[in-house]
Amino acid sequence: MSKQMLCLPGDGIGPEIMAEALKALDAAKLRFGLDIEISHGLVGGAAIDQYGVPLSDETLALARNADAILFGSVGGPKWDDQPMANRPEKGLLQLRAELDLFANLRPAILFPQLAEASSLKPELVAGLDILIVRELTGGIYFGEPRGVRTLGNGEREGYNTYVYRESEIRRIAKVAFEAARKRGGRLCSVDKSNVLEVTGLWREVVIAESAGYNDVELSHMYVDNAAMQLVRAPKQFDVMVTGNMFGDILSDCAAMLTGSIGMLPSASLNEKNQGMYEPVHGSAPDIAGENKANPLAQILSLAMLLRYSLADGSSLADGSSLAEVAAADAIEKAVSDVLDKGYRTWDIASEGCQLVGTAAMGDAVVDCLLNA
Ligand code: IPM
Ligand code: MG
Repeated sequence: MSKQMLCLPGDGIGPEIMAEALKALDAAKLRFGLDIEISHGLVGGAAIDQYGVPLSDETLALARNADAILFGSVGGPKWDDQPMANRPEKGLLQLRAELDLFANLRPAILFPQLAEASSLKPELVAGLDILIVRELTGGIYFGEPRGVRTLGNGEREGYNTYVYRESEIRRIAKVAFEAARKRGGRLCSVDKSNVLEVTGLWREVVIAESAGYNDVELSHMYVDNAAMQLVRAPKQFDVMVTGNMFGDILSDCAAMLTGSIGMLPSASLNEKNQGMYEPVHGSAPDIAGENKANPLAQILSLAMLLRYSLADGSSLADGSSLAEVAAADAIEKAVSDVLDKGYRTWDIASEGCQLVGTAAMGDAVVDCLLNA
């Protein structure tokens, strides 16, 4: 039976980079004989323009039925005056919540070809390979009560609730321990347990969970220190696990260490390995429509999608040899090959490179994929 993939390009540069990922998917289908049926939907600002809401019931239904979702990016100045409950970002947050995509995997890997593009010295980042495991459906992003209220004296007060249940902490810890076990065997849990009770519980539950993972070396770090350590000596980390908001911040920081946030894919998975795959970067409205955006993070997100959600029976990188896994490997290799050939979009440009636009970068990947 064919696999179902839903394509949600979103706003800003989303549609442009999605077009390149779909080219790569066509090439991969051809080469590996993949049987994937693609449906398309609107999300974010594009959906607000069409339906008045950032995620329509129809699109949500398509998402529920899909084995995997390839997501572009949402948001832009056009929708900045939307009320909080109807902002483009809500479409993304709703998809995460409705599909229970609690496990967000954000690898920060330095392509050796791009060592010079990092804002850190090459020796600090050479060989960098960190996986941030971010809890994605709880914490302060979703905690209730939330809002802005008016106090007795007429002053307004904004408030959010930072809350985690033991079961939520346990399941994300499990994902992180499993990932660490398959990688370098080290897990750093990031919290603020010197100040916040909720993250004190986080630390307790992670420690309890570690009993089943004697082969994984567990450490703990306060989030402020973790931010500092990421820019001081990032290679000390293997896998990091943390809550929703800390993970949002630390993953941007880790991404930049690799030279360009335009290179990094991410996966958001639920218990059934159904997943949504998106670049870590945003919709970059300032360069939208200019054929300038780097499509490689979107293309690498497609590779992750094939590997984690479409390869039957495979979970978190078990190295199975199915066609989808072979296709994922080939796409990742094609990306590395185009970098070897010197192709660069402006965000990763360096002296002497072959500067190309979005479409030409996509074409170069397809070329490498078909003529490997
Ligand atoms: C991310 C983004 C989102 C988040 C926004 C767009 C809602 O920054 O995926 O990191 O905060 O989670
Ligand atoms: Mg973010």
